[in-house]
Amino acid sequence: MFPDLTSDDIFHLETKRLWLRWPRAADAAAIASFASEAETARMTAAIPHPYPAGEAERFILSARADNANGKSLVLAITQKSGVRPTIGLVSATPSQAREIELGYVVAPAARGKGFASEAAKALVETIFGLTNADRVLANARTINPASRRVLEKCGFAYIDTGLDHLPARGGLHPCDRFRLDRKTWAANRWSRQLRPMVHQVHESDERPTEDATAPTRAEA
Ligand SMILES: CC(C)(COP(=O)(O)OP(=O)(O)OC[C@H]1O[C@@H](n2cnc3c(N)ncnc32)[C@H](O)[C@@H]1OP(=O)(O)O)[C@@H](O)C(=O)NCCC(=O)NCCS
Repeated sequence: MFPDLTSDDIFHLETKRLWLRWPRAADAAAIASFASEAETARMTAAIPHPYPAGEAERFILSARADNANGKSLVLAITQKSGVRPTIGLVSATPSQAREIELGYVVAPAARGKGFASEAAKALVETIFGLTNADRVLANARTINPASRRVLEKCGFAYIDTGLDHLPARGGLHPCDRFRLDRKTWAANRWSRQLRPMVHQVHESDERPTEDATAPTRAEA
């Protein structure tokens, strides 16, 4: 589903504060340190707990193989500043035809700074920009308000709550289901692109009118 562009390990995304790049062997210790925490694992569908020895290395190999064959796109989250340790992961995995599931995890020490939202937004842009996906789906356990908030900040719409199978947790668990359609994403994208230009108009005209923004819209 993913194009040739993402299936080479030089592929990366840049955001204001982050580099998102393919996970590498050197990330294993950092990934194991946050993935092995019970409170982190229990919010996810896929991270086993207790975290087995060698699991981070296995995960990295598997993620790289899936990235290479275009099956999914799993990226390590690293900060541009400092020594750039991996502070999290963000993933896009096709679930059904033209549907992609979004996943993310951020190390406890890096939480509450907007990094998950920043990384998830960048990956959503990439999904809609580079694939033919019609929608991106995401589930958050009902006990996970931080994850729900990330999805809201990324423009996802709440759909419903139901029992979902979380393989690594065993059995069914109540989850809030979210969705972002291409049409909604495209509409919001238009307004995001406009905002800085509209802002410029506002700076030079304290009482902007509909007409004042019209030329800007046309130029965009
Ligand atoms: C969910 C997770 C990725 C969030 O990472 P993060 O980098 O802290 O996320 P952000 O800073 O971008 O956004 C978190 C938002 O949740 C809010 N939040 C955090 N804890 C909250 C709580 N207990 N109740 C309500 N909101 C909460 C934050 O205030 C922030 O919202 P704001 O920007 O409006 O203030 C991180 O907590 C994590 O890795 N958890 C374990 C794994 C996980 O849950 N993955 C998702 C599986 S669906």
